[in-house]
Amino acid sequence: MRNGLGASAAVMVMAVAGVLGGAAFGAEPGTVTVQVDKPAHAISPTLYGLMTEEINHAYDGGLYAELIQNRTFQDPVIPARGGGRGRGRGQGNAGGANGQAPAGPAMVGEGEHAVPKMPLHWSEVSSAGAKGEIQADVNEHVNETGLPVSLRVDIQEVPAGGRVGVANEGYWGIPVRPNTTYMANFYAKAGQGFSGPVTVDIETTDGKAVATGTAPGVTGEWKKYTVELKTGGDVQATKDARFVISGASKGTLWLSDVSLFPPTYKDRANGDRIDISKLLAEMDPSFLRFPGGNYLEGETPETRFNWMKMIGPVEDRPGHMGTWSYRSSDGFGLDEFLGWCEDLHMMPVLAVYAGYSLRGQHITGDDLKPYVQEALDEIEYVSGDASTKWGAMRAKNGYPKPFDLKYVEIGNEDQFDGRRGGTNTYDERFTAFYDAIKAKYPNLQCIATTPVKSRKPDVVDDHYYQQAQEMWAMSRLYDKKDRSGPKVFVGEWATREGSPTPDMNAALGDAAFLTGLERNSDIVVMSCYAPLFVNVSDISNPNQAARSMEWSTDLIGYDALSSYGSPAYYVQKMFIHNKGDEVLPVTVDVPGTEGGVLPAPPAAEGRGPARGRPRSEGGVFVEASNDQATNEVILKVVNAQAAAQTLKIDLEGTKGVEEKGTIETLQGEPTDVNTIAEPEKIAPRTEGLSVSGTTFTREFPAHSVSVLRVKVK
Ligand code: AHR
Repeated sequence: MRNGLGASAAVMVMAVAGVLGGAAFGAEPGTVTVQVDKPAHAISPTLYGLMTEEINHAYDGGLYAELIQNRTFQDPVIPARGGGRGRGRGQGNAGGANGQAPAGPAMVGEGEHAVPKMPLHWSEVSSAGAKGEIQADVNEHVNETGLPVSLRVDIQEVPAGGRVGVANEGYWGIPVRPNTTYMANFYAKAGQGFSGPVTVDIETTDGKAVATGTAPGVTGEWKKYTVELKTGGDVQATKDARFVISGASKGTLWLSDVSLFPPTYKDRANGDRIDISKLLAEMDPSFLRFPGGNYLEGETPETRFNWMKMIGPVEDRPGHMGTWSYRSSDGFGLDEFLGWCEDLHMMPVLAVYAGYSLRGQHITGDDLKPYVQEALDEIEYVSGDASTKWGAMRAKNGYPKPFDLKYVEIGNEDQFDGRRGGTNTYDERFTAFYDAIKAKYPNLQCIATTPVKSRKPDVVDDHYYQQAQEMWAMSRLYDKKDRSGPKVFVGEWATREGSPTPDMNAALGDAAFLTGLERNSDIVVMSCYAPLFVNVSDISNPNQAARSMEWSTDLIGYDALSSYGSPAYYVQKMFIHNKGDEVLPVTVDVPGTEGGVLPAPPAAEGRGPARGRPRSEGGVFVEASNDQATNEVILKVVNAQAAAQTLKIDLEGTKGVEEKGTIETLQGEPTDVNTIAEPEKIAPRTEGLSVSGTTFTREFPAHSVSVLRVKVK
């Protein structure tokens, strides 16, 4: 994460402040002149994409449609931690206010293999008169890699029609919908005379079963069972439900890999949630940057994104401790990132682990060689044809066609290497990866995560997380950027106002910033908002390790049942759908502003950026492009002021315009947000636009983002 403006931009806005400070803004009309016949440059076709990682329950409890939390019974106890944004959970700092670690649950197994005796997110279920004992079993397992722990259910008493088993709470509930088919999959094994059947139920938390199925014939050998569960038409949609798996006869029942899937997007096996996928598909993103973010780096090299352990059958994947306070099942692994690219027609932008992890370890010299090879193999897995070793493996895992890989990012935020003392080793590490990648794949574009001297990267990835006030000024960030250097990928960025999802003021900051990216898309080749997702179910739990959110201000929010896009989501959509082909030069003249941008208040010495202006007072930001197929001029106007702004728009260099155009507007109060309860409180509205000639006047409401499309002759 990089904070603050580049030095030259900061100097520029300060100088303007000296001249213009104190003016009243937004009342006087302004003019916008567009040079329709003098396109400046083409707009990068890959300007807008997606980025996320396993954070805020983005995959487990998010996009990944699996409904059972801790299906392999391996989730560890994470020490309770309070406080704000954090990372590095699982590294001590346990305990309450007095520093004493609270007594944890009873454990089974030893050392790092110890797991809670009653697995997290599971609880015992016994009907009246039934008696049983339930515990994780580290000695009885289906396999040692992915399923080293089973759940042992000893049923001692069970009256006719009764049951003993376990319930899973899901990811803050199990979503129930009418007329829906769910697939339960699990391994089971019987002992001590257990004769079955095994029953699976989805039941509402008041104990009413809404879907039931049974697996007969459980034997003394581990075997996989699939049970279909169907809800009826009269069932009410709710997330207040749980999943129960139980036995109805005396004896011992072992369970492993207990999974429940609802229907998935495009019916993909081990696939994605439909509602969230639809929100993404409606954005029409051109690429996906994956797998992170900090999630790529891991707290240590051992907990990096180790792609080889995240391919093939899910039951063989060990899972690992992520960087954002919870264990990742890795059911959403490299294969699933590829499936996601396929489903949404996105170009993969693959980030490879480059020998630096968050606790400060860096790997150099000969020790780096295996990691370079790991990256080369990963590239082959993604893009090699079936005649290559790893390409053949990918084909075996369900993806026969190689993926069209153009960009590989080497590491993540490597400017932080050395910040805990010692030297920054990125130059050396980047060189090792760059040389090996270019030798084998000369056409691949290598992205550096911070500037390097030893090689000229094709692209450098810039990250910005700022308040709206900074983002407004940063709309000019790339205007004067040296065009002879590497291209730019703004691989993580967001206006961080609003929690869990951005508010309207943040959307205004985003929109202004995007006008700058688009205007400079001769050098800014890609951009992606981050993070993309947040599970909003439990964002304020005082125990950080138990929260559903680690990072506030995320584009899309959801709980187990529903999802919504924030105002910033709609800004992304508006910009992506109206990207255009070429940038058209624009001159903005609004009294009291510098080309539309309001002067920033002077920064208070020794403190962060001054907060001298009210929220949503950033000025007017305009960007123009053309759509060559439809012969339209596309004008994006962001009015980040508390008053409406009248603009006379002059389309120069065109013979005439068609009278009927369209205007799409997103508008709201700065603090307005969308929520599960009000998912579209702030959403764009499209209406017809009557244009009298090549010059026309329009009033743009306060706190609004507008996209005008006008056909020219
Ligand atoms: O997007 C959240 C985090 O911000 C990413 O993991 C990291 O790259 C950045 O610091």
